[in-house]
Amino acid sequence: MTPTGTLSGQAIREKFLSFFSQKYGHKITPSASLVPTNPTVLLTPAGMLPFVPIFLGIEPAPKPPRAVSSQKCARVSGKASDLEYVGRTPRHHTFFEMLGNFSFGDYFKEQAIAMAWEFITEEVKLPKDKLWITVFETDLESRDIWRDKMGVPEERILFCGAKDNFWGPPGATGPCGPCSEIHYDHLGESRPEWKGDPSTNPALLESDRFVEVWNLVFMELFKDGDGKLSPLEKKNVDTGMGLERITMVLQGKENTFETDLLFPLVDHAAKLAKVHYKKGSPQTDTALKILADHIRCVSFAVADGIIPSNEGRGYIIRMLLRRAVRYGKQHLNLQGAFLHQMVSTVRDLYQAAYPELKEKYQFIVDTVKAEENRFLETLERGSKRLEELIEEAKASNNQILSGDEIFKLYDTYGFPLELTADIAKEKGFSVDEDGFEAAMKAQKQQARSARKGDRIVDDQVYSRILEEVGPTKFVGYDTLSAQATVKALIVEGEQVEAVGGTNQAFEAVLDVTPFYAESGGQVGDRGSFSRDSGPHGLTVVVSDVMKVGELFVHQCLFDNGGNLRVGETLSAQVDPVSRQLSAIHHTATHLIHAALRKVLGDQVAQAGSYVSSEGARFDFTFNRALSPVELQRVEFIANKEILSNSSRLVEEMDIDSAKQSGAIAMFDEKYADLVRVISYGAFTKELCGGTHVNQLGEIGLIKITSEGAIASGVRRIEYVAGEKAYRLFKQVESEMQKTAGLLKAPVSEVPAKIEKLLEELKAREKSVRALEEKIASGEVKQMLQAYQTYSPWIVTQVDTQRVDGLKMMAEKLADQLGSKTYVVLLASNIDQKAHFVSAVSKNLVAQGISAGELVKKAAAICEGGGGGRPNFAQAGGKNPAKIVQALAEMNELIQQTVSVPAS
Ligand code: SER
Repeated sequence: MTPTGTLSGQAIREKFLSFFSQKYGHKITPSASLVPTNPTVLLTPAGMLPFVPIFLGIEPAPKPPRAVSSQKCARVSGKASDLEYVGRTPRHHTFFEMLGNFSFGDYFKEQAIAMAWEFITEEVKLPKDKLWITVFETDLESRDIWRDKMGVPEERILFCGAKDNFWGPPGATGPCGPCSEIHYDHLGESRPEWKGDPSTNPALLESDRFVEVWNLVFMELFKDGDGKLSPLEKKNVDTGMGLERITMVLQGKENTFETDLLFPLVDHAAKLAKVHYKKGSPQTDTALKILADHIRCVSFAVADGIIPSNEGRGYIIRMLLRRAVRYGKQHLNLQGAFLHQMVSTVRDLYQAAYPELKEKYQFIVDTVKAEENRFLETLERGSKRLEELIEEAKASNNQILSGDEIFKLYDTYGFPLELTADIAKEKGFSVDEDGFEAAMKAQKQQARSARKGDRIVDDQVYSRILEEVGPTKFVGYDTLSAQATVKALIVEGEQVEAVGGTNQAFEAVLDVTPFYAESGGQVGDRGSFSRDSGPHGLTVVVSDVMKVGELFVHQCLFDNGGNLRVGETLSAQVDPVSRQLSAIHHTATHLIHAALRKVLGDQVAQAGSYVSSEGARFDFTFNRALSPVELQRVEFIANKEILSNSSRLVEEMDIDSAKQSGAIAMFDEKYADLVRVISYGAFTKELCGGTHVNQLGEIGLIKITSEGAIASGVRRIEYVAGEKAYRLFKQVESEMQKTAGLLKAPVSEVPAKIEKLLEELKAREKSVRALEEKIASGEVKQMLQAYQTYSPWIVTQVDTQRVDGLKMMAEKLADQLGSKTYVVLLASNIDQKAHFVSAVSKNLVAQGISAGELVKKAAAICEGGGGGRPNFAQAGGKNPAKIVQALAEMNELIQQTVSVPAS
């Protein structure tokens, strides 16, 4: 209870979970990560998302098939973005908690409605006469249930179209269906525009007078990539009630930021800014709410392993964080980095339900602070550029800032589009978002590597096959070959009975497979299928294997033509060499991980990894570069452990015992109830489904090849092991020998010899310079004579081999001429390029003659550019044949501009 006697937000969350679990047998499912496994969605936007594989039948449902959860959600990007509303409306957030109960082919409309009604009217006791219901325009069945079974008066049940009462799918494709919503009349007719009621004026439901508290989705359809709807095999229920909203209603607050779930954050922001909520301007209150909202979202996201970056979800977090900093600076007058201080309040408010906020506390603070500081630096530089852009647009009477320019601002200064748009809007300009997207796309296309496209795991073809043939039995931990039966074949996304041809790529599902499927950073196995009986012998090359739910999908090609039918038996053989090399690199990864923790501390958390037969990399969270000594220690410790030759120990245990035993787990990974734990001696113990060597000695050797940053706060170490490491050493050795051969010295003397050579080179450089000086002095003398005799300017081509020599001459001339009036413009053809150097006396500079302009013009004639200060400048062009012309034109130009007699 809160001091006023109402339920606290925390208590409402607990009440919801226990009502559905204790009274109606729902399995309490802990919130999944904000980072979804569904590749079509950036951040988990709804409570139902983690259950999509169950709705589609790819993963099994719990028993009984019902679940209840309080899910961390974010709506910051894409079609469901609420960003614009945050702080300006009473109840929008970027991050929120969604309470939901789910039925997987179990109960449907009637029971879902009855349970929701019971919870709302009896458990939390909202007055029935303030509740309004909406149903999908054709859903008479739901209307009847509300009216006849729940006793809701007919005039308080409204029919609405798809915009309001059809929900989903959450990504590009997926489950969806008509829905029914419960609305609460929160503020009554307290404003003139709120008079009347929704039965005559349905628009009132959209006003702030009403709060949509609960959405019951009757999930019975599937939307495919073409937008076509087809019935799902089972009828499901997905409901969602925003915890913040129901708390606002029950605590009688005007907006969610005043509930105990958010007010401490608003208050913290107010304290930092030395202002009071609701005592200043509305802009101040909006900014306080934005800070409260954004830091909550960012803290939860970082706790789930999202690091601010320029890509995907990292970009969203960067954008939010930067937006909050800007609001704080601009509307609350906050200086320097301040946002990270609020993380402690997020932790205090939520650690009981989300312990990751406590576990990752320091990491969140460090990450937020580092990003704040980085932003403050770029803000200064970027703001200047943006002001210029706005000035330029103003000058050319343009109301829209060009997409290319704002993309440059984003690319060079890290200015998020939304931020640029905000600032531009304040000054009365808009931004060309389409142009921005086009520029971004063009750059991405350039950068796109051969990376495999994300697999859309919710493709129905796999769920149908899984339903039909059941999960694939994986035997590959113990054996590399197996007799198997072909259970399903897929060509271009279509299930087929048989496949044949020469160049036909296809996918095959077997009953049993020794092939490891890509997961946990380890690539899928390669190998072959063969059938050698009778005249129909054939070989199928398997290039990769993916896991879709519990289905192993082999990517295949006939080696030399052939055909294959469902039901045939064949022998599946994993390529032992590449499997062993993958295992070597995977175990090496565990050793590197453990060694990193020994050297840098336990705060090192895995952020990703990639393991193949060719090499491996390990990404981890750490806020600075490793020193060469640290890197050497990591490599040394890992290699020393190989020499211990410890044996592999594989244990299966439940996730909690695994964590208690000290096994390392990745914090944003979803684990099954029963997990596999791999350890070698006391050195490393990790949750892992990958394949590993029997004895550490099999690794032979690990060689780190690089270390660097891949995003702010995330480092990447790359390394090779086993035979690959040996080959790397051999390569280095042969390069060394080649170098030694060139130096005609034994390898051991190479460094000393190079040192000596460098010294010699330096000495020679010195004598070349001395010679050059001599030559330059001679030439300078001659040029000075010409100056004395003819004119106050020296415009000529000289013969020198080095740009330094050319510069030296100009400097000498300027030196000798001292305070006299002069223009010097020297040119030279060096390495088939035109070079110009110019020096201009102070008094002529004052008259507007600029050395920078002279060389720029001269170089332009020679197809180049450059420039410099008004008194001394240098430039070059790629066409030396035009030097004579350039000098002649400059000569004329100088004569026209300067008319001073030689002194
Ligand atoms: N998926 C629905 C929503 O997000 C109900 O949970 O509103």
